[in-house]
Amino acid sequence: MGGYSTINDKNFKVIGKPIKLKFNGITLSGFEGQSIAALLYSKGIRGLRNSKSGDERGLFCGMGVCYECAVSVNGITGKRACLEPAKDGTDVRSLDYKTPYNPIPPIISEYKIDSEKTYDIAIIGSGPAGLMAAKTLIGKGLKVVIIDERLGLGGQYFKQLAKSHSFENKSLNDYQYRRGSELIKQVQNSDTEVKLGSTVIASEKISNNHLNISLLKNEVMELINAKRIIFCTGAYEIARPFPGWTSPNIITTGAAQSLLRSYRLNAGKEIVIAGNGPLNFQLAAELIDNGAKLKGVIEASPNPFPFKTISLIKSMFYDPNLMIQGSTYLAKLILNRVPILFKHHVNEVFGKNPSTIKVSPILDGGKLDINKNVEFSADTLCVGYGFLSNDELPRLLGCKYEYKETGVSKIICD
Ligand code: FES
Repeated sequence: MGGYSTINDKNFKVIGKPIKLKFNGITLSGFEGQSIAALLYSKGIRGLRNSKSGDERGLFCGMGVCYECAVSVNGITGKRACLEPAKDGTDVRSLDYKTPYNPIPPIISEYKIDSEKTYDIAIIGSGPAGLMAAKTLIGKGLKVVIIDERLGLGGQYFKQLAKSHSFENKSLNDYQYRRGSELIKQVQNSDTEVKLGSTVIASEKISNNHLNISLLKNEVMELINAKRIIFCTGAYEIARPFPGWTSPNIITTGAAQSLLRSYRLNAGKEIVIAGNGPLNFQLAAELIDNGAKLKGVIEASPNPFPFKTISLIKSMFYDPNLMIQGSTYLAKLILNRVPILFKHHVNEVFGKNPSTIKVSPILDGGKLDINKNVEFSADTLCVGYGFLSNDELPRLLGCKYEYKETGVSKIICD
């Protein structure tokens, strides 16, 4: 069971060189440019490690945040399969909690300290904000470096096709691909230095005009200096826990979108999407376009129709494009007869092949009415309940921050 490939659709083609890797001793074929997680997912392999209780864990956030996809790669443990490129001849093994931690120590002899090489600005994160910052600052004559632990520029929002695929239909009318690729080209064609596959592991303020940043790439450490850092580390999805939420059949909406938009994989054959916000509706529409069967969309907020119709009409004047886009997604779901349950939340998920997803109405006051469950059967549940800003790095560097009542932190001083 599991995800299946849509690589033969007319708008895209596979261009990655065929490769073979081993997963737990079994040889699997794939394409250069895929991540290890994408290659395994395309073969229906979802369990990547076992927790202490013996439960399987697998891909979850799809963006390097949760470590649920940790595997051993050529004997090095703790590698994130969602970020790790699939390479010919690689030996990938699943982990269980007894696997001894065996990271290769960084190669200190190659610790590059080049104090001559001081950047005016180091931008951490290469999503829309990072790319725009780089483009603007390089235009002012500053020496800029942009750093990202992913293998491509664009972040989550402007994520591009992985190197395993290319566009077949050049006139593809997709704003995120198109705008992202324009911005990426502008940055690549400028004097901005780009460091991809580089994880920031430490940073220290030496003086008011001097910060150092330690990067780790392929087990080699590098030290760079910058006068200023701009954090464009984006956000990660909020996933609300419920019994069964750690099943490898459950991934975030963002992970499902990465599988689809970067690797041309549907997250499953029969999918339920649950959470809150427009990204879930966008994913639902994109999955339908790519042949997945949407079993249902579970939205935590109340149905805006008919009581909020006037507010929706007013919104047309503020951002008509966004409203048109949202209406298109909704129309697609209605035309395809996808059940949409407003003001519902997932109550429990159990079973594997497929999973049973129990959802309950949300009562006024926030509790679930567990006497009125609705059940769905699907091989995949995608969850997304909004976003939390990814602000660990500025906090580690001592930037002041405050906690909001909602548990969200906010940087208040740089
Ligand atoms: S870190 Fe890979 S799925 Fe979250």
